[in-house]
Amino acid sequence: MLGIRKVSIIGSGHVGESAAFIMAMRGIADEVVMTDVVEDLPEGKALDMMEAAPILGYDTKIKGSSKGKIYDAIEDSDVVIMTAGFPRLPGMSRDDLLGKNIPIMRQVAENVAKYAPNSIFLVVANPLDAMIYAAKKVTGFPDNRLVGQAGALDSARFMSFLAAEKGVSVKNVWGMTLGSHGDDMVPLRDYSQIYGVPVNKLIEADRLEEIVERTRKGGGEIVKLLKKGSAYWAPAAGAAWMTESILRDEKAVIPCHTFLHGEYGINDLPVGVPVQLGKGGVEKIIEIDLSDQEKAELKKSADHVAEVCKRVDDLKLL
Ligand code: 2OP
Repeated sequence: MLGIRKVSIIGSGHVGESAAFIMAMRGIADEVVMTDVVEDLPEGKALDMMEAAPILGYDTKIKGSSKGKIYDAIEDSDVVIMTAGFPRLPGMSRDDLLGKNIPIMRQVAENVAKYAPNSIFLVVANPLDAMIYAAKKVTGFPDNRLVGQAGALDSARFMSFLAAEKGVSVKNVWGMTLGSHGDDMVPLRDYSQIYGVPVNKLIEADRLEEIVERTRKGGGEIVKLLKKGSAYWAPAAGAAWMTESILRDEKAVIPCHTFLHGEYGINDLPVGVPVQLGKGGVEKIIEIDLSDQEKAELKKSADHVAEVCKRVDDLKLL
């Protein structure tokens, strides 16, 4: 029998449920286990999705497991996606969530290390820069099996704005953002393209800077509109994109948070850079030549990551 591709999702709020649904629709996994501390919530959402399957045509087995049974259910997962935590509200930065969400990460990471010790741990919850740092400290997983979802989402935002700007299909656009998952992320101007042409050759510099700025503040724009929480469709799509490349061993290059050890001149910090994702998780870090401006921006962004990681240490949250 062929191995079952199993994904577990910690947290069945909007991001968790949307990720489960996207993965089912795209046939990425054979089994998706949704979990949550709220009793019966993931069981209910999973059952609802299974009842939609005959209409939508997916055979993915979606299961739910809550309170008291969460961690037994994640055993043998190939990928565990961490979405649990409090969302951002209007007026908050992602880092304002640190005090509340790092303790949640500590508890989850201890259990992932115990119950799914060979999994690839994919972190989505915020503040992402600090959460992946905490995930490493607690699980002790090797760097290739720890990866953070932020660049997929931020790049997708950038690409959607670029496609809309030129009125072309999103399929004609490739864009990347590097660095932290904060307002100082680095959308690349030289390496982002529309039908193969660098965006800075197609869009006036001032207008491109507006699009860059909108990308940086993209999470806040959605929080402001939703009022009661943060984005979930695009973050979930980002996690599903990464999981697909891992489970299908596609080796797609996707900007993701990974621990750098000298690459881009950054040491021992989790920062968003292009990586190749395959069955081994982060199989390769891709180093590209950045312009002087982008190098300076990436350095500033990495300094921000260093600061939040230090806060996790100083506050003794682990
Ligand atoms: C965002 O950027 C929730 O951090 C996520 O929308």
